[in-house]
Amino acid sequence: MRVISDLDECRAWVGDRSAPRPRVLVPTMGALHEGHLSLVDLARERAGDDGEVAATIFVNPAQFAPHEDFDRYPRQLETDLAMLEGRGCDVVFAPERPAMYAPDASVAVVESGIGAGLEGASRPQFFTGVCTIVAKLFNLTQPDAAVFGEKDYQQLAVIRRMVRDLDFPVEIIGAPIVRETDGLAMSSRNAYLSDDERAQASVLSRALGEARELIQQGQVDVLTLLGQVEQRIASQPLSRIDYVAGVHPDTLESIDAIGEDGLLIALAVWFGKTRLIDNLCWRRNLAGGA
Ligand code: PAF
Repeated sequence: MRVISDLDECRAWVGDRSAPRPRVLVPTMGALHEGHLSLVDLARERAGDDGEVAATIFVNPAQFAPHEDFDRYPRQLETDLAMLEGRGCDVVFAPERPAMYAPDASVAVVESGIGAGLEGASRPQFFTGVCTIVAKLFNLTQPDAAVFGEKDYQQLAVIRRMVRDLDFPVEIIGAPIVRETDGLAMSSRNAYLSDDERAQASVLSRALGEARELIQQGQVDVLTLLGQVEQRIASQPLSRIDYVAGVHPDTLESIDAIGEDGLLIALAVWFGKTRLIDNLCWRRNLAGGA
């Protein structure tokens, strides 16, 4: 597995490309877990045996607000590289921060529609930071396709929108949420949880699972569903809800009742100092999410 940290080396690798060999990218911030590795598996499936699977590791300062967890975000480069190599990744691009942002960088990619609510409302800097770094990584690595996890459902939607609106020739592939045995969605931030918080955090997937059952029993009223989810989460004393929202799965606009296109229930909940997100995407004839 080739590991590149230098931008010129990255450009040389991209320039070397001779035969049309599909390149599939998995952008990450490191602190990898089985969820990330499932993205690598999907990338290999899309690239084929002759194709190239590349991952990036970069904890992107631009997507963290000053009060957020940039400084304590887990960093474990050597472990991450071993995990990626074990999963058959071909190339890893892991640049240093100064290489990625000039001190006077003044251009950013702003998405101002589907990124405005949910995560965008709670973390106003987040999607501009994500779009800017993903655009830069696409420019640097020139992938044919890129894989993103559906746990960050809105991020995936925003990136699809960016690729569409800015004509990036990159196919965007969504990968299903990977869960721990008790249902907690895998996340690098789970490592922050104390034992008590970790035990209570499994309520998120339980609450979403119960909502799915109610939908399957015929409940279409979104406020009723959200009320049930909130009540279940609030039963865990260490939880503090940031938002629990019911939106159209494509437009991400609030809806009152489940229509033809289904429903996305998206949530963000604090356990102590750790903010976790999860979602249930329910579509007619196709249940996803929790
Ligand atoms: O989902 C993440 O890990 C990050 O937001 C991403 C897409 C790698 C951009 O920094």
